[in-house]
Amino acid sequence: MACPKLFLSCLLLELMFFFLVPEVAQGHSLKVGFYGKACPNAEAIVKEVIGQILSVAPSLSGPLLRLHFHDCFVRGCEGSVLLDSPTYQSEKYAFRKHGLRGYQEIDRVKTALEKACPGIVSCADILALVARDVVVATGGLFYDVETGRRDGYVSISEEARRDLIPPTANITTLKADFAKRGLSAKDLVILSGGHTIGNSHCSPFSNRLYNFTGKGDADPTLDSNYIARLKLSCKPNDQTTLVEMDPGSARTFDIKYFDLILKRRGLFTSDAALLDDNQTKAYLDFQIKTGGSTFFKDFGVSMVKMGRIGVLPKMAGEVRKVCTKVN
Ligand code: HEM
Repeated sequence: MACPKLFLSCLLLELMFFFLVPEVAQGHSLKVGFYGKACPNAEAIVKEVIGQILSVAPSLSGPLLRLHFHDCFVRGCEGSVLLDSPTYQSEKYAFRKHGLRGYQEIDRVKTALEKACPGIVSCADILALVARDVVVATGGLFYDVETGRRDGYVSISEEARRDLIPPTANITTLKADFAKRGLSAKDLVILSGGHTIGNSHCSPFSNRLYNFTGKGDADPTLDSNYIARLKLSCKPNDQTTLVEMDPGSARTFDIKYFDLILKRRGLFTSDAALLDDNQTKAYLDFQIKTGGSTFFKDFGVSMVKMGRIGVLPKMAGEVRKVCTKVN
């Protein structure tokens, strides 16, 4: 295993992580307003910087929301998605192909926080706060974010490849994967609602257009008119084009993503799979019927749950001074 620090200290840290951090941490060390005394303006600073960023680059809302998900699903919410290394491949390397962005913007938030309160606000917390501020800025509902996360020391590309659910996943895999992190089928459908904003490359769903069963066919569960439309943007083997995941409202946090799924226009197999389970399908139906009566609030609740995954215990980890490097 590649270690970012001296081998022995890295080994000790790994052992601590192994014994102290269950796959699903209960988030006991987290609380709303954790920085109230040590950095009272922390949340206001994050909000202000994100506001400035989105006012000039609104297309960054999707990438900035997604970073918190990728952080939490690999090693837990401890900032490993942000680490760089000159000597080994960190998680970022695995995500390169899948277009994770927004790292510089997180650095910008961190710089502003370090100026106000040096060494206080963790990078893992910054990701959680940024995700909330993006949701609000794009039309979603405010929710309280628990803070107090510690930053980890390790980031390994193979773990990201192993632990992130592929867009080709079926409902059984999706539910099992969420369940092992303490997230329910309801959380699955609600958090998939994050796809109401942002873009995708063609590659995660290209198989559904051109080669679904290996015989040059399309996915019969995907609406044929939508297939024709997607084919105009995405030629076979296209690695660069971006398409809106929620066409026409990809910068607005709304319930149109659920509408798309019900119309068999969910972009990924993993989106469409939400129709294959009674519970997730019922949730979609209910939100469409009631105009999203509970979705906006539910999203905050599920995000808080996601934000508790694998949180490091109080004495473990550190607060990085720079999000790309261990101290
Ligand atoms: C359920 C399992 C999930 C799968 C399989 C999945 C898969 C993907 C894929 C393949 C992309 C397109 C990447 C690209 O080509 O650039 C994407 C984008 C995105 N995902 Fe997910 N995702 C999942 C869950 C989530 C969750 C839980 C969130 C947040 C709550 C989220 C938020 C986003 C956002 C905002 C984007 C757009 C990023 C951008 O605009 O660059 N996803 N996802």
